[in-house]
Amino acid sequence: MTSVDLSIQLCNLTLRNPTILASGILGTTKALLKRVAGNGAGAVTIKSVSREPREGHKNPTVITFEGGMLNAVGYSNPGVDAAAREFSCLQEVNAPVIASVIGTQKEDFARVVEGLSGAKFSAIEIPLSCPHTPGFGLLAGQGTPEATFAITSEVRKITQLPIFVKLSPNIPEICTIAKAAEDAGANAITAVNSMGPGMVINIEAKKPVLDFKVGGVTGDALRPIAVRCVFDLYKAVKIPIIGVGGISTGRHAIEMMMAGASAVGIGTGVYYRGIEVFKKVCEEMAQWMEENGFDKVNKIIGAVHD
Ligand SMILES: Cc1cc2nc3c(=O)[nH]c(=O)nc-3n(C[C@H](O)[C@H](O)[C@H](O)COP(=O)(O)O)c2cc1C
Repeated sequence: MTSVDLSIQLCNLTLRNPTILASGILGTTKALLKRVAGNGAGAVTIKSVSREPREGHKNPTVITFEGGMLNAVGYSNPGVDAAAREFSCLQEVNAPVIASVIGTQKEDFARVVEGLSGAKFSAIEIPLSCPHTPGFGLLAGQGTPEATFAITSEVRKITQLPIFVKLSPNIPEICTIAKAAEDAGANAITAVNSMGPGMVINIEAKKPVLDFKVGGVTGDALRPIAVRCVFDLYKAVKIPIIGVGGISTGRHAIEMMMAGASAVGIGTGVYYRGIEVFKKVCEEMAQWMEENGFDKVNKIIGAVHD
């Protein structure tokens, strides 16, 4: 039994530990959210939801390579009405649930947030940063300071819940975009989404492996970039940061928190270590903290800046 305190405060939410299921991985049903929370996640994020149902890209949509994963899922989701039904009674999930909301126009984000308002979500995440879905994210110009400000302001008008704005690692001016989100009323920054797009080629078939040809890079290859983004953001904004990208061990989580993250998202780590990854990361964090004289995990946040 460990004596260290892993709980953290994220905006108005108290998380029993800093691990959060990242959007797009397992978050498609309430039953899956319950399983992930049951396996120790401090909070969970649903797969992004749009106004209308979306089929997404054709298979193969997700592949692995030596450094991580490449995906072009294309935001497949059942649309806001079906999502609102699926995610009713969220109090059954033993952790705060974050709604991930996407749109092609700023009004779409607001309509989806409204459509989900009957469910007991604890926060709204708005990814403005997908690198491979036409009409959304970077391909729709949502990754600029102006669009970030406009979309965040639109969502701010209609919800009291904390808003997390999810940014791309691709852009050199990530701090300018984060400041635009903060100015528009965002309560936290999620950094980062997948990087790229990248491509993996099957040299025998002489074809890209993904049907969509290109996709977002995640996992180990992304981690140093994500850590640097969080390090820069910690100096640029006052709101908390959720660090995401390549975290699958307790050491990775501590590294991300030392860079400045208040909590850590885990996506590809679920593929590397199974659904137990949340429990394992927490155990490894606790062990490292005991060995290194930390009693509370929040003392690690931004430690590299001291
Ligand atoms: C298969 C897959 C699907 C994803 N779908 C979404 C999504 O719907 N919305 C979103 O904001 N991010 C999505 N992401 C990005 C992740 O939430 C996360 O930001 C990214 O994978 C980096 O973290 P990781 O290295 O721990 O996977 C997806 C990632 C993967 C691998």
